[in-house]
Amino acid sequence: MKRLTLLIILCVIGGVAAYFLRPPATPTTDSPTSSPVTSEPTPVATTPPAYEMRTASADGIGKFYMGREIAHVMGHPAIGWLERDEREREEAPSRAIAALELRPTDVIADIGAGSGYYSFRIAEKVPQGKVIAVDIQQEMLDFLAKRAAELQVTNVQGHLGAIDNIQLPENSLDAALMVDAYHEFSHPAEMLQSLHRALKPDGRIILLEFRAEDPRVPIKPLHKMTEEQARKEFAAAGFSLASNKRQLPWQHFMIFVKTAAAP
Ligand SMILES: C[S@@+](CC[C@H](N)C(=O)[O-])C[C@H]1O[C@@H](n2cnc3c(N)ncnc32)[C@H](O)[C@@H]1O
Repeated sequence: MKRLTLLIILCVIGGVAAYFLRPPATPTTDSPTSSPVTSEPTPVATTPPAYEMRTASADGIGKFYMGREIAHVMGHPAIGWLERDEREREEAPSRAIAALELRPTDVIADIGAGSGYYSFRIAEKVPQGKVIAVDIQQEMLDFLAKRAAELQVTNVQGHLGAIDNIQLPENSLDAALMVDAYHEFSHPAEMLQSLHRALKPDGRIILLEFRAEDPRVPIKPLHKMTEEQARKEFAAAGFSLASNKRQLPWQHFMIFVKTAAAP
């Protein structure tokens, strides 16, 4: 009897300890290549997304969305890698940009723009429109502003987003591009919800992610994504896959459009 009482007491203490010691809802550690991201989540009440916290792998933050572990944010010291000369040969960005099919007046957000590698190349396709280069690292936006001045480009506009919200007005975007960035959004569901609001009814998202289905693509697993995974995550935010053009050496080129109803 005494043993049973002792066992019950231990179970109760264990349960209380497990509750208070559970991992925090947002990541508290980052990789050596990441920089501290200071923006706070926006206090907007939405349906809580189904995130899970598990043991983090070397390249991940230990936060999982629909079975996928979210990768660390690439810090601004890696700008050199984004701007590397081999990028055209490896990823064929000029082919990707030609396939965007932009109209000269389009307003397009380059979300997770980094150094603006894509933003500046897209700018000439929208001479009467603009590229809004969204990032959460001020250092990336500083680099971008300097580059815009050097190149005398006036239709690339840097924009500081929050980790869970692009913070752009409703119904303001014709298109949004995300290149090698979505897999590192710490709040992917909330980001897509804010993008759903910011896109015009016929707006498109163009998502470039390294193909996880192809073992020959020499990129770390958490920096890749399958089409199936992207489909699932975007469907939960009210988007459906319109096409996936298989034209790039390493990446998917997926186009998502809004489905009739927002989530
Ligand atoms: C790997 S870089 C890619 C940069 C650029 N798209 C390119 O291909 O050259 C990913 C970028 O996404 C940014 N990022 C991460 N989470 C973000 C978020 N929630 N909103 C906007 N940008 C974010 C990072 O700061 C980083 O600059």
